[in-house]
Amino acid sequence: MQVAVLISGRGSNLEALIKHQDNYQICHVISNNPKAKGLEVAQINGITNTFIDWSDKQRAELELQKLLHEIKADLVVLAGFMRILSNETIDAAGQIINIHPSLLPKYPGLHTHEKVLFNKDQWHGATVHVVNDQLDSGLILAQIRLAVELSLDADALAQQLISKEHKLLTTVVGLIAKKHLYWQDGDLFMYDKKTNKPLLIDDV
Ligand code: GRF
Repeated sequence: MQVAVLISGRGSNLEALIKHQDNYQICHVISNNPKAKGLEVAQINGITNTFIDWSDKQRAELELQKLLHEIKADLVVLAGFMRILSNETIDAAGQIINIHPSLLPKYPGLHTHEKVLFNKDQWHGATVHVVNDQLDSGLILAQIRLAVELSLDADALAQQLISKEHKLLTTVVGLIAKKHLYWQDGDLFMYDKKTNKPLLIDDV
C-alpha cells in the first residue's frame, strides 16, 4: 500500500511510519511549511517531498489536489498537518486519516495537554480518525490511552504521549494496509465485522 503523509512540523509520527513500513511504503511527503523538520526526515530517507505554499489557501488546495491525483496514494495520512482541508481536497485524497493528541470527541483543536491537566483528567490519549472538512471530527478509527500523572507539566505530558501516538499510528496504518481495518459509508469494520467501537490499541 502506498501512503502519502502531510506534515507541518517536526515529523516524529512520519519518522515512526517510515521506520515501521510493514505492508506499506511512504511514497511522498507534503508540507505546508518549508522549514518543517519532517521535510529533512523525508530527504534523509530518500522520500520524494513537496512544499506547498499555503499563503493562498485556494491555490494551495488546487495544487495539493493535482499532486494527490498524480501520486495516486492508497492512503493519505495527516501527521501534524495544521490546516483544515476542503471537501474537494478530501475527495482527491481518497482514503484520508488524521492523528490527534486527545481522546476525541474530547478536546478537538489545540492545547489538548493543557486542557487535560487543567481538568485533572485521569486519562489522556490519542485518536486516529477519518478526515472530513470539520476540525478533528471524522469517524474515529482507533485510540490509545495514557494514565495522566497530574504532577507533569504540559510539555512532559506531550512527550509521554508522543511515543504512544507513534504506536497508534503505525499500528493503524499497518492494519489498513492488511485490510484488517476499513471504513465504508461512515461505518467501521474490523476483520470484516462492523463495529460501533473504535479500536483500543492497548488491547491489541
Ligand atoms: C502530534 O502530536 C499529532 O498528534 C498532532 O501534531 C503533532 C505532530 O507531531 N496532530 P510530529 O510532527 O509528528 O512530531
